[in-house]
Amino acid sequence: MNEKIHFEDWLSAAPKAELHLHLDGTLEAGRLLQLAEKNRVQLPYKSLAEVEAAYRFENLQSFLDLYYLGASVLRDEEDFYHLMMDYLQRCRQNNIVHTEIMIEPQTYLPNGIDFPVFMAGFKRAIVEARSSWGQSVQLILSFLRHLPESEALGVLDQAEAYRDDFVAIGLASSEQGNPPQKFAELYRRARERGYRLTAHAGEEGPPAFIYSALQDLQVERIDHGVRCVEDDALVEWLRERGVPLTVCPLSNVRLCVFPEMAQHNILQLLERGLMVTVNSDDPTYFGGYMNDNFIAMHRALNLNRSQALQLLRNGFEASFLPEAEKTALLKQLDNFAEAA
Ligand code: HPA
Ligand code: ZN
Repeated sequence: MNEKIHFEDWLSAAPKAELHLHLDGTLEAGRLLQLAEKNRVQLPYKSLAEVEAAYRFENLQSFLDLYYLGASVLRDEEDFYHLMMDYLQRCRQNNIVHTEIMIEPQTYLPNGIDFPVFMAGFKRAIVEARSSWGQSVQLILSFLRHLPESEALGVLDQAEAYRDDFVAIGLASSEQGNPPQKFAELYRRARERGYRLTAHAGEEGPPAFIYSALQDLQVERIDHGVRCVEDDALVEWLRERGVPLTVCPLSNVRLCVFPEMAQHNILQLLERGLMVTVNSDDPTYFGGYMNDNFIAMHRALNLNRSQALQLLRNGFEASFLPEAEKTALLKQLDNFAEAA
């Protein structure tokens, strides 16, 4: 058997944790068209080919414009149930045994869809996936940084009724012009209410945004963070403190953060001792789920078994799971590595 194919099967079968995933970024083009028709939402596309042709982004903003338009087709509890269930089934196929999913209420609230509607759909799917195949899931309440902090504070209050459903808060959307410090009060209040903390920084934004997320927001984890390499002192800071970076290789290539996968710095970051993890970000928009990311890294960067094992281990270590659950999943990974 061809050695490369054998290793790709091994990568696909390995148990994984996904820590950086926007649920709206899992909406399949086919379901998007189906829901647009059902809910009578006008879109500028008539066919699957037209939707797929629109997936040619040049940067984060051109992607986000399409992404928010896509999510506007979601209207009732059933739509949210299917969105979550479709992704959880992908988790099963990709051997993602634990996932931490970003939910972005500010995408739904302006369409008149309130917490009880989307949360009921999400929770019904999660309960089913837990009981039918033991899927482990945590939710992250993610805020949109292009909107004012005052709006985010109101959403944090609305989420109080669902406090037990979210393990953490996050910060997504356009980095340029929206530095982390804009949300210092939001993070202060969330910390007081017991949320774990993460934020996107250093995807398109400079190293200063990573410092700001760590110092002004006191985050425990950085989403993306790949631009840290522009500042040696920052790399050292991240290494010493073991700050996890949730890196998304296919996303970075599609949004032109790196011109091609062969130039991605993920293995360099790993080599420098950073707590790097692999994630899919917005899989339907960026051309791949978790296993596709690992396989693309293997093909373009020659990812080997020991690097892959370190990345997989980091995924569990960097999760927001309680220690006992982390230990159990790390043991599952060890057993897999010994057997295969
Ligand atoms: N960056 C910022 N915001 C996002 C992304 C991303 O990659 N995906 C969805 N929202
Ligand atoms: Zn993201």
